[in-house]
Amino acid sequence: MKEKILQFLNRQSGFVSGQKICDALGVSRTAVWKCINSLKEEGYEIESVTRKGYRLLQSPDLLTRESVLSCLKDNIVPGELLCFSSIDSTNEEAKRRAGEGAPDGSVYIADRQTKGKGRRGKTWSSPPGQDIFFSILLRPDLPADCISMLTLVAAMAVAEAVDQVTGMSSQIKWPNDILLNQKKVCGILTEMNVEIDSDYYVVVGIGINVNRTEFDEEISFMAGSLKKESGKTINRASFLATVLSYFCKYYGMFHEKRDVSPFLENYNEKLVNRGHEVKLVRKGEEQIRTALGMNEKGELIVVDEQGRKEAVFSGEVSVRGIYGYV
Ligand code: BTN
Repeated sequence: MKEKILQFLNRQSGFVSGQKICDALGVSRTAVWKCINSLKEEGYEIESVTRKGYRLLQSPDLLTRESVLSCLKDNIVPGELLCFSSIDSTNEEAKRRAGEGAPDGSVYIADRQTKGKGRRGKTWSSPPGQDIFFSILLRPDLPADCISMLTLVAAMAVAEAVDQVTGMSSQIKWPNDILLNQKKVCGILTEMNVEIDSDYYVVVGIGINVNRTEFDEEISFMAGSLKKESGKTINRASFLATVLSYFCKYYGMFHEKRDVSPFLENYNEKLVNRGHEVKLVRKGEEQIRTALGMNEKGELIVVDEQGRKEAVFSGEVSVRGIYGYV
C-alpha cells in the first residue's frame, strides 16, 4: 500500500486529498495516515495540510522496490522487480533466478555489489549508497546473432535518460560505454546462457556512476559520475525508472525490426569515436583505423589508410582511443 500511496504523491505535483487516496485504494483514513507516517520515518518529506491533503516535498535517495515502483509511470516491468541492499553481482543473481524460471523482463537491482563484474574479466567497483547496479533478464524470441545488439539498446536507453536528468549531451563509446565530458559514467555487460537443453535467456547488466565523486586511483583518469560531471545530485530511484522506461521504448523498436535501424541515427550522433582514429585490438593485434559510424546490425564501420572499409563486430574486436580511453 505504501508503494501505491507514493505513486499517487509522485504523480501529483500539488496536494492530493486523503479521501482521494482512501477511495482509490479502498482503505480507511487511519490506514493512509499510518502509511504516511511510516514513509516520513523512512525519510520522505511529506507536507500535510488540513482540507488540502498530502504533498510530497522530497524523497530520500533510497534504492528500494517501493521507491523504484512508485516512480514508474506505467506498469512497464513485465517480470519481477527486486532490490537488494547488498549482493555479489546482479548479473549473477539474474542468472540464478533465470535458472529457477524467473519471467522475461525481470529486473534485479542492488545498492551495492561485492563482486561486481565488468567486461573482459574486470571488476566493477560497486560501493553502497551512491550508484546504480542492475540487470534485466530477457527471454527474447530472437536469433542468436541479434543478441549483441541488446547492449546497444541498453546504451541508447541510458544515454537518453542521462541527457534528460543532467540536461547535458552524453556520448557513446562504441559499443556501450556512456560518457559525459569524455568520462565513463556507465558500463554494460551482456551475458547469455549457452547451456544446451536449458531455456535460452540473456542478462543485460548495467552499472551507472550516479552520485559518487571519488574513484579508485586506477580508474580516476577515465571515470566520472552524473553528479561529478553535471553538478546535480540525482535521485536514484527516479533516474532508474527513467532508464527502464527508455529501455522499454528502444527494446520495442529493436524487437520489431530485429536490428538497430530505428535509432541508428540517434546512436551515431552520440558516437564519440565517429570520424576519429581508433585502435582496434583483434586477437592481440593492434590496428589503427578511422571509425565512420555504426551500421544497422550494430557493427562499427572503419576505414584504413588506403580507403578500404570494413564492418567490425563487438565480440571480435575491442576499440581503444589512440591517446587514452576515448
Ligand atoms: C564494463 O566493464 O564496462 C561493464 C560493467 C557492467 C557493470 C554492471 S553493474 C550491474 C551488473 N552486475 C555486474 O556484476 N556487472 C553489471
